[in-house]
Amino acid sequence: MTSSSRPPALDTLAIHAGQEPDPLYAAVMTPIVLSSTFAQPSPGQPKRYEYSRSGNPTREALELCLAALEGAKSGFAFASGSAATLTLLSLLKSGDHVLCGDDVYGGTFRLLDKVVAPLGIGASFVDLRDLERAEKALLPTTKLVWIETPTNPLLKVYDIEGLAKLAQARGALLVVDNTFASPVLQRPLERGAGVVMHSTTKYINGHSDAVGGALVTSDPVLAERLRFQQNAIGAVPSPFDCFLVLRGVKTLPLRMRRHSESALLLAERLESAPGVRAVRYPWLPSHPEYALARSQMASGGGMISFEIDGGIAAARNFLSSLKLFILAESLGGVESLAEHPASMTHASIPEATRALLGISDGLVRLSVGLEGVEDLWSDIEQALACR
Ligand SMILES: Cc1ncc(COP(=O)(O)O)c(C=O)c1O
Repeated sequence: MTSSSRPPALDTLAIHAGQEPDPLYAAVMTPIVLSSTFAQPSPGQPKRYEYSRSGNPTREALELCLAALEGAKSGFAFASGSAATLTLLSLLKSGDHVLCGDDVYGGTFRLLDKVVAPLGIGASFVDLRDLERAEKALLPTTKLVWIETPTNPLLKVYDIEGLAKLAQARGALLVVDNTFASPVLQRPLERGAGVVMHSTTKYINGHSDAVGGALVTSDPVLAERLRFQQNAIGAVPSPFDCFLVLRGVKTLPLRMRRHSESALLLAERLESAPGVRAVRYPWLPSHPEYALARSQMASGGGMISFEIDGGIAAARNFLSSLKLFILAESLGGVESLAEHPASMTHASIPEATRALLGISDGLVRLSVGLEGVEDLWSDIEQALACR
């Protein structure tokens, strides 16, 4: 891809990996190949593709690009992040166990708790920041250790390398949901993770106009199993959605730098804002895992969470008073979003569990977009005054 022996920068990979000019018309942008099926020269001998569930050129371009960004050998795209999660979990069998971080996306908790638990696959949810505690929580039947880092919504930071070593020593696989950080901030496979999962709906696409997911790995045996499950289960994205994600990912490195810059500034100001407590942002020196975050991540990312004095009423007033931040679920788009985890993204976690985790009624989560940062700050200030 480049003429030098140095590996290409992420900025270059985002624009070119998997995206050679199309051989038929030399189109620079990857074509959207909508065909569900492909002509075969003779029975049972397809050329490269046979049927778009098993493989499609637009999807393959995206899969190659995502694999390259994460430094992986293989990538698989799915119709959503949840579809990616479930496809990976479908490799487990009754009696297997998943050790999961205690602060995960509500939908991931719901899949483990309500969809795979009835199939005999157990899961425990543990704060895995403490590696001794993590080691004790590993069972002989643990096949997967599942983490997000930074976590959603409390932005805890887990030690990828430490957990990868623990998992490997017990024959388990570390899965990192890298949705919040993206490969621009951290590449978990380089730190020993076995699989990286993404909701590409978020930063990877970055424009809030497509739902998608991905799994990437460098393990050839696992890749073959995932390829089989991807085709057998069939939760694949449409070629049009793959095109949108490919278009979005080209600016990922640029966007992540700006998200991080603006979020750090807002987090610093929030720390001394009246009525605000417990500002959580990985690159604030007050963050409990600040040193780990600085060593593991290239920058702090675009997500901030904090508590508003006055509980649920104050949080609701604050959120309804925002004018530029849009009150909506999801994150990682160019536009800034705000949400209330207890009643929105994490409502599927039982109230008592939320309380134990620290997802209080006064907790607010911001996804800092690419607008002018002073405009964003003015919006926060005026909404805080209305709380
Ligand atoms: C960290 C994280 N992982 C997974 C998911 C699920 O992805 P999707 O909504 O694309 O199914 C989400 C969705 O918000 C998320 O925030």
